[in-house]
Amino acid sequence: MDFSAKTLKDAGAAKTACAIVPVYPRKALSAAAKQLDKRYKGVIADAVAAGDIAGTAGDSLLLHTGDEKGVRRILLVGAGTRSKLDAAALRKFVAAAIRGLKSCKAKDAMLHAEELACEEVPMGALLEQVGRSFESASYQYSETLSKPRPGLAAARLQVNCGEAMKTAAANRALKLGKQIGEGINVAKQLGNLPGNICTPSYLANEARKLAKGDNKLTTRILEEKQMRELGMGSFLSVSAGSEQPAKLIAMHYKGAAASKKPYVLVGKGITFDSGGISLKPGLKMDEMKFDMCGAASVFGTMHAVLAMKLPINVVALVAASENLPSGKATKPGDVVTSMSGQTIEILNTDAEGRLVLCDTLTYAERFKPAAVIDIATLTGACVVALGSHAHGMYANDDKLAEQLTAAGDSSHDRPWRMPLWDDYQKQIDSPFADIQNIGGPGGGSITAACFLARFTKKYKWAHLDIAGTAWDSSPKAATGRPVGMLSHYLLDRAGVKLG
Ligand code: BES
Ligand code: MN
Ligand code: ZN
Repeated sequence: MDFSAKTLKDAGAAKTACAIVPVYPRKALSAAAKQLDKRYKGVIADAVAAGDIAGTAGDSLLLHTGDEKGVRRILLVGAGTRSKLDAAALRKFVAAAIRGLKSCKAKDAMLHAEELACEEVPMGALLEQVGRSFESASYQYSETLSKPRPGLAAARLQVNCGEAMKTAAANRALKLGKQIGEGINVAKQLGNLPGNICTPSYLANEARKLAKGDNKLTTRILEEKQMRELGMGSFLSVSAGSEQPAKLIAMHYKGAAASKKPYVLVGKGITFDSGGISLKPGLKMDEMKFDMCGAASVFGTMHAVLAMKLPINVVALVAASENLPSGKATKPGDVVTSMSGQTIEILNTDAEGRLVLCDTLTYAERFKPAAVIDIATLTGACVVALGSHAHGMYANDDKLAEQLTAAGDSSHDRPWRMPLWDDYQKQIDSPFADIQNIGGPGGGSITAACFLARFTKKYKWAHLDIAGTAWDSSPKAATGRPVGMLSHYLLDRAGVKLG
């Protein structure tokens, strides 16, 4: 989608296939709505008087003017009481604007946002949100369809921000939002691809492609042989039953001096999780193609970081593997040695995410990170605890947790902090190894995080359990989360202000 900022005086004078204008409760119209009402002989006042739109945040009504040469459609969108405009009302407004635009064939639109900035969401933040939300709404899956399905018809959005902001700064904010939206779409696309296409080798190629187009990015793929040499017995135990070789994908983005410590992102990339010998039940097993959504979010965030050319260093590590049963597969009761030297008793081969992550987290030490964040569809227990709205967040550093919470708020892609208390640690003590890979029935998301905590003592670390947030089940679709949150976290670290 193409975005541009405008400073228009009269909404009625601009040619567009669809003007999107705010209306408020009790028949109150925005200035843009009043101008269009005047130009089109009271159509808006009439619709409002008839009671067809109340003006509550999220209401909408599509009107046709019959004027192909001027403003052909008017999409009225409720913003709620004008004096009470806040982030929640604006989210509803933007979502309704997108729904309304999706419901028609308008090829371009003009959003009248000049009255919508508020204390909680200044104009720059609003424009970033608009760019991000409209761009990610334009995503349409088509890869494995014989005929592509129609998506959002609008390919261009102009945003009138009046006098609230200089056009150059407004365009910058829209562009940042678009770049993050594109990152979100990269994550959706990788997540949605089926397991027979999106294999560990496929992900490795995506990383190579990303590095080809950008001289600030270098990619290194560690093959199973190199992983064996590094002592990654835990990581390798997961791919033992698969024909697909595991890959540890490392992408190094150098946007700042080499002396600046990098932010390290680690993604769980299980391209299909059958459970292995601890086989999962058949129902919904297909959804385990989404078990690489942590990796997908790392790719999406790297796309955004590259596009935004952030002046920081970022290392992305993707732990890619397929978890299948076979005569060579790891069995319950097997003991493996991790790269850290700690031995692990694998009691359940379906708790495989932590097995690939722990060695990758040990590998992360060599980058002397400013902070390490891992992102993983790690536990069904997290879905039970938090549902589909909040990512489960664990951290061994309060400041890092606060920074991620702030980034989650500004992108509305929010984490919720969970306990990482020592009290839970004894649940993963083993009689036959230093640690076991499951912690019993209680607190499954917490004991999984406690497992990872034993491998992340040397740096500031946060773990995001995105099992409930990475995809929707009906209809099935990857959400692209938490690319929004991670991008905002890195924007903040780079000191970029939205203005
Ligand atoms: N990928 C799954 C977690 C998952 C399950 C995410 C359902 C989203 C929906 C993970 O590898 C897994 O199987 N975890 C087990 C752990 C258990 C064996 C301790 C789980 O959650 O059941
Ligand atoms: Mn599993
Ligand atoms: Zn899994």
